[in-house]
Amino acid sequence: MPRVLIAGCGYLGLATARLLAAKSWEVIGLTRSAPLEGESFRVISADIADATALEALALPKLDVVIHCASSGRGGAEEYRRVYLDGARNLARAFTSARLIFTSSTSVYAQNDGALVTEDSPADPQRDTGRVLREAEQVVIASGGCVARLAGIYGPARSVLLRKFFAGEAVIEGGGSRFVNQIHRDDAASALALLATHGAAGIFNVCDDTPLTQREIYAWLAQHFGRPLPPTGPVDVNRKRGVTNKRVSNAKLHALGWSPRYPSFRDAVERDGEALCAPTAR
Ligand SMILES: NC(=O)c1ccc[n+]([C@@H]2O[C@H](COP(=O)([O-])OP(=O)(O)OC[C@H]3O[C@@H](n4cnc5c(N)ncnc54)[C@H](OP(=O)(O)O)[C@@H]3O)[C@@H](O)[C@H]2O)c1
Repeated sequence: MPRVLIAGCGYLGLATARLLAAKSWEVIGLTRSAPLEGESFRVISADIADATALEALALPKLDVVIHCASSGRGGAEEYRRVYLDGARNLARAFTSARLIFTSSTSVYAQNDGALVTEDSPADPQRDTGRVLREAEQVVIASGGCVARLAGIYGPARSVLLRKFFAGEAVIEGGGSRFVNQIHRDDAASALALLATHGAAGIFNVCDDTPLTQREIYAWLAQHFGRPLPPTGPVDVNRKRGVTNKRVSNAKLHALGWSPRYPSFRDAVERDGEALCAPTAR
């Protein structure tokens, strides 16, 4: 039975852990604070930025480690701790394992609506993005795999729906900017495939249908019979920078993955109630 450590058993990590456990992997979950209870697998706690704490876990030999921890609302310093120090520490502590790192499509700084693949330049303009690129390089140098994830949404978590229903949505600068997203369960199935397949290198993880901000809000307005949100200026203060690109998932498809929700619209039509639910898990 292959053994995997999910380092960061949060919104995506927990879904991935449950999926791999259902596929007969031996799963060990890890969080920073309180260990989770009520799961079919063991969940421990440690700070992945603390190399000594990781060594002290004395875990059995692992086949795969998925670095799925998130810096939360932190800035570049917290990014460095969680993503870069975390990746280095995991690679050093578990040398037998293949490391899979959940990076972000925000590393592509393209701003002209271009189609970007894993071979496109990834030169982020913000410090946070540069830290992600450094962490990616650590993982690739260790023979591991980088999953560049688009914006994650799913049960009880959708920034777009929350803003839409709260009356906080704004169609920015004409709304022509593409939004790339991935349903949490499709991101989990992608990570499970990358774990199972023994893949190395970089893979974009996004759905099949980049939509412009205007297309999304116009569709939501029509679908829910609500007014179209107002137009306004582009929010230039996004932590991961303002970009505009269509992210290609062709490489992941070629590995045999396909999303259950090819588009955000499919998820809203099929599972809208779950997406709008107040609490996750
Ligand atoms: N959300 C998005 O739209 C998005 C987009 C692109 C990429 N990603 C990436 O996807 C990954 C998963 O995101 P998510 O939304 O599932 O995150 P999340 O729900 O915030 O969960 C993060 C998990 O990481 C744990 N954690 C945080 N810092 C840690 C540390 N220093 N040591 C050990 N565990 C730590 C947390 O433990 P506690 O709960 O105990 O603190 C929690 O279990 C992250 O790498 C994120 O950057 C997310």
